[in-house]
Amino acid sequence: MMEDISKTDPEVYNLIKKELKRQQLGLEMIPSENNVSRMVLQAMGSILTNKYSEGYPQKRYYGGNQFIDEIESLAIERAKKAFKVAHANVQPYSGSPANFAVYVATCHPGDVIMGHNLPDGGHLTHGWKASVTGQFYKSVPYHVKSDGYLDLDEIERLAKEHKPKLMWVGATAYVREFPFEELGKIADEAGAYLAADIAHISGLVIAGVHESPSPYVHIITTTTHKTLRGPRGGMIMVTQKGLDKDPDLANKIDRAIFPGLQGGPHDHTTAAIAVALEESSKPEFKEYCKQIVNNSKELAKSLMENGIKLVTNGTDNHMILIDLTPFGKGKGIFVQEALDLANITTNKNTIPADPSSPFYPSGVRLGTPSLTTRGMQEKEMETIGKWISEIIKEVKDFELPDNKAEIGNCLKHFKESIEHNKRIHEIKNHVVELCRKFPMYPSFDILR
Ligand SMILES: Cc1ncc(COP(=O)(O)O)c(C=O)c1O
Repeated sequence: MMEDISKTDPEVYNLIKKELKRQQLGLEMIPSENNVSRMVLQAMGSILTNKYSEGYPQKRYYGGNQFIDEIESLAIERAKKAFKVAHANVQPYSGSPANFAVYVATCHPGDVIMGHNLPDGGHLTHGWKASVTGQFYKSVPYHVKSDGYLDLDEIERLAKEHKPKLMWVGATAYVREFPFEELGKIADEAGAYLAADIAHISGLVIAGVHESPSPYVHIITTTTHKTLRGPRGGMIMVTQKGLDKDPDLANKIDRAIFPGLQGGPHDHTTAAIAVALEESSKPEFKEYCKQIVNNSKELAKSLMENGIKLVTNGTDNHMILIDLTPFGKGKGIFVQEALDLANITTNKNTIPADPSSPFYPSGVRLGTPSLTTRGMQEKEMETIGKWISEIIKEVKDFELPDNKAEIGNCLKHFKESIEHNKRIHEIKNHVVELCRKFPMYPSFDILR
């Protein structure tokens, strides 16, 4: 009989089982998460993890790579086809290393770069001060307007004034379509490379539910584990426009990943990316992505009908940003914790011009990719919107103290007082019932 982790390492086995149950019996509403197929899991859990293959197909530093070469070439070809790009690198370990490689390929330390400000929804790696991208490069952040939409006038003005070497378009908390074409023009006028970080929306782009940046930008980066529904990983692509601007750009990107930043690629991840890209080419995936957005719009409608304010009063994509400031500042933590108690997983998030801090922000970010994978539709979104609104109202009167030293005690008191909240517990029971109707990995044995 084959040895089995449940016998050899019951500690880890039991923790994986607990996490599986948590995922099965809860509503996973963090917009950057999803539930991959069994086939993606199979590729991830395969013997490919045993191999070392520094370099690129047909140019490796180790022997025995004939099949790895084929796998990586397949992933590259599928990525090029899916995103209609000239070149793809599928080796980045994740989204952040992919973005770092873009800097290494296009800038020297100290060069000016421009990106979407983090508290306005941008990602750390687009030049935020706590990230090395904001320390090694001279970061000029751009913002959204008070209505939550990107401030194109400001972006144009800053680009003309600062002449950045690299500009980013893309975000981690932005609920509207990205104006790729307009940003493309601004970057061209400034002579900058424009990189679109489509980590969140790459599935929607493949499905044609969000406009593709490919005609307008030079470089595209993405994670592979969000709407694309693949393993945790990253990719960097160079468009035809990118090669027209700089014929050596693809080589610069490849060299930035290896040997610039990384060693051996994670071949099991590469195989799983290839599997996810194949899945994303099917008509069912297009339907899935359409439903993600339909669900998101319905959820937004339900929340607003139940008195909840949303940034930009709605959404164009898989994501919704709740603005809790009508109830006071810094309320995100209370809502996130209360939703957690009802098995609804979300994350507190800054909102534009947040009156509080990134650690205790005034918003909550929600998304529909995982619920849609489970098969939930508009009817369920309407109900979930009501539950979330009710929970927000249950905790809206808790106040975050101005004095940081008092926050710990305040949160302790908050947790104790909602622990036995009757309505939150009733909603939790409804959530569990709903989850059982939309099973995830039914009869799934984590070992096989
Ligand atoms: C827009 C964007 N870019 C990059 C990343 C970084 O990806 P990773 O967490 O895989 O490093 C994220 C992750 O949330 C993201 O939202």
